Amino acid sequence: MIGIFDSGTGGLSVFREIFRLLPEERYIYYSDNANCPYGEKTKEFITDRARAISSFLIGQGADIIVVACNTATAAAISSLRAEFPICFIGMEPAVKPAAQKTRTGVVGVLATAGTLKASKYIDTREKWAQDVKIVEHIGQGFVELVENGILEGPEAETIVEKSIRPLIEAGADTIVLGCTHYPFLAETIRKTAGCPVELIDSAPAVAKHLLEVMQEKGLIHMDGFSMTLHSSGDSTTLERIYNNLIQTI
Ligand code: DGL
Repeated sequence: MIGIFDSGTGGLSVFREIFRLLPEERYIYYSDNANCPYGEKTKEFITDRARAISSFLIGQGADIIVVACNTATAAAISSLRAEFPICFIGMEPAVKPAAQKTRTGVVGVLATAGTLKASKYIDTREKWAQDVKIVEHIGQGFVELVENGILEGPEAETIVEKSIRPLIEAGADTIVLGCTHYPFLAETIRKTAGCPVELIDSAPAVAKHLLEVMQEKGLIHMDGFSMTLHSSGDSTTLERIYNNLIQTI
């Protein structure tokens, strides 16, 4: 069974890509929405939560876990790999493909404060983005919009526009969605950008990597699709977004 967790609903954008490749697996999803957002929380706090959630998922039968959260990956994945005997797959902002795609030579990176200051992200940026200009911005208020199920409309546009504008003004034609909540706001991001932008989401690459690891380790069971949703807080938005998503995949 594939375990997936995030600070909230965002990890469902990763599940969507995984499900396309592995539609016959059993899934368990944990949204830590009682503690969401993770973006400004300490590494210690996030690591404690990631350990408790992983332990719960393994207890429920997960034999591989996707940390479907850039912030939790940056903070905790090495501790999780050291502590638990199963395989963990993490997220990372897709700076490399963005640096290869940009025509203006300017790449915008939208992520949480926790991801942008993590050494994992800084190392990736140093490695892959030497020949392009990187402009970073926190998607201020984006996670809260998604957690409240507000993905489009005037309120979403006003909030999203404030973080997109500086990237567009700096000349970015390619924007990395460095938080798993942000793909749910993709249409609003495109609309508020006011010009064509390429949005880069790392979820399809992560799903492909997961498939390869599961093939290699003999973890593909194909015993029929099922999904169990768990959350530490109210589950209304999680269930609504999940139900919409599963009907439209
Ligand atoms: N969805 C998460 C991420 O990818 C965390 C967002 C948050 O809780 O701040 O970074």
